[in-house]
This record gives sequence, structure tokens and C-alpha cells, in this order.
Amino acid sequence: MRTIDWVDDAVELVDQTLLPDKLVMLRIHTVAELVEAIQRLAVRGAPALGVAGALGVVLADGDSAQIAALRAARPTAVNLAWGVDRAAARLAEGREAVLAAALKVRDDDLAACRAMGERGAGLLEGDRLRIMTVCNTGGLAAVERGTALGVVQTLHERGRLAEVLALETRPLLQGARLTTWELARMGAPHRLIADSAGPYLLARGEVDAVLIGADRIAANGDTANKIGSYALALGAERAGVPFVVVAPESTIDPGTPSGDHIEIEDRGDEEIVNVRGVRVAPEGTRALNPAFDVTPHDLISAIVTEQRVIRP
Ligand code: MRU
Repeated sequence: MRTIDWVDDAVELVDQTLLPDKLVMLRIHTVAELVEAIQRLAVRGAPALGVAGALGVVLADGDSAQIAALRAARPTAVNLAWGVDRAAARLAEGREAVLAAALKVRDDDLAACRAMGERGAGLLEGDRLRIMTVCNTGGLAAVERGTALGVVQTLHERGRLAEVLALETRPLLQGARLTTWELARMGAPHRLIADSAGPYLLARGEVDAVLIGADRIAANGDTANKIGSYALALGAERAGVPFVVVAPESTIDPGTPSGDHIEIEDRGDEEIVNVRGVRVAPEGTRALNPAFDVTPHDLISAIVTEQRVIRP
């Protein structure tokens, strides 16, 4: 199954807000619809956003205001702007050239995820690995196969995976809703944990490696990823557990010198005071909702891309 693709002159994508209850594909014909799908996280995850950005430029049909709106739909994952720019660079050559560039972004993701899976599995030592992960970095966050969860998939295919401990990932529950769904489809053993249990389970010796994805990697290796990643990095350092970032080269942003320069999306009160549409805090409660955090490079054991292993 492809999370996002170009079908019959439209962007086709899985509506991830409806998982795990329903698997529904959306057909998107306009940039306005695509921006809305990105902002409500119907399509999400850095590599998938890169493909959405590139395909969206085809829908924009050369309209620079629409292209700018698409590029700015979410600020933290650099892949979105990168995908838009890759396709927009061919605008002068006409629609077919833009489409070819966008389809190349899609196809490169397929190859990159496979390569990251191989390289990440090769980097980790041990035969029965217990992996901890946050958010969703599987096929749903890319095109077919994921980044950090792509490494998990490769380990599982080789009989080297003992178990995945998946953080539920409040507020939008990408771990509980999406990662468990993907792991079940893979037949990979897993248990769901509360976000706050992560560092303690690391301290208790229940994890051999933490694998996470990334939304933007600054030039010095500081890495923005889903909120909760930094707490796991601190816990992993204290427990002596490798903390590995798995992301394509397109997530590395040489134009951002360090994590302090990364814009962190704040998604507002509603996602915090409600859980899946049910209010859990008293009426009028104000919230703070950074969707990502930044892990400083010195807490990162390795960054695995489709081309190399970087030790920040
Ligand atoms: O807000 P989201 O669900 O788009 O956040 C996604 C993440 O933080 C992922 O870990 C990251 O994009 C890498 S996906 C391979």
C-alpha cells in the first residue's frame, strides 16, 4: 500500500486521522485541499510531506501564491519545503517536467527507506533487539516503507527483533493509532507505553536501542522530531543505550546552523485539552502545545541516512 501517490491526475493519500478505525483514501485535486490535509495531519511525517509538497506543485499549475502557501503549510519538517522546491525548480520546463520531478521525489523515497533499513539494521549489534520509538516513522510517514520503523521492519524480516516499545505520542497519538497499526500488519511484536514511561523503562534496562525519525536536522546535528524525543535522548544517555536518528538526506538542512534556529510548530490549545474529541480539562484551561522538540547533537549516537552514518 502506498501512503501517498499520484493517481488519475490527483494526489491520492491515506487519511491518517481516521486510522486505526478506518482505512480511507482521499483524492486531492487542489492546493487548498492539500494544505488543509497537511495542516490537519491527514498526511504527515517528514518524508510523506516532501512527496506531498512536490506533487502539490503539479496541482498549483504555476501559481506562485499557491506554491508559497503549500511550502508554508507546516514549518518544522524541512522536507515539505524541500519537496516543493525540487518540483518548482522545473516550472519553466512545463507541467510534464514538474510532474517528472515530483514522481522522482516519490521514487527516491522508496529507495531511500530501503537503504536506511539496511544501514540501520547493520549498525545495531545483537540478535534479539528491544527497540523503543516515538511517533510514527513507518510507511505512513513516507511512501511505502519508513525510516526508523523501516529499520524495525528490516530487523523483523531478519529475525532480529525481540520487541518494539512504542510511545503513545500525545497529543495526537501517532504511536498509539498508527505505529501499533503498522507493527501489527508487519506481525512484529510490540507493546504500547505511556509517553512518560519511556525514560523509566530505559533506566530499567528494557531497551537495547532508541530509534527515532527527524523533521529537521541542523548543520551541527541537532535534531527536531516529535515532542518527547528529547526526554528519550536524556533517558538513553543516562542508561547507556544508543540513541539513533534515522532520516533521509533531505531532512538535513545545511541552512540551519543549530537547533536554536529551527522553528517549532505550536499547534494550539485544542489538541491538549481534548483527547480524540473528548474534553479532559476544565472549560477555559489554557495549554502549550509544541509539536516537536530539539535533541542536541551530543545526545545522538548516530544519524543514519540512505547514504551514510553520521556521528554528530
Ligand atoms: O506531527 P507529525 O506526525 O507530522 O510528526 C512526525 C514526526 O515527528 C516524525 O517522527 C518525523 O516526521 C519523521 S517521519 C519518518
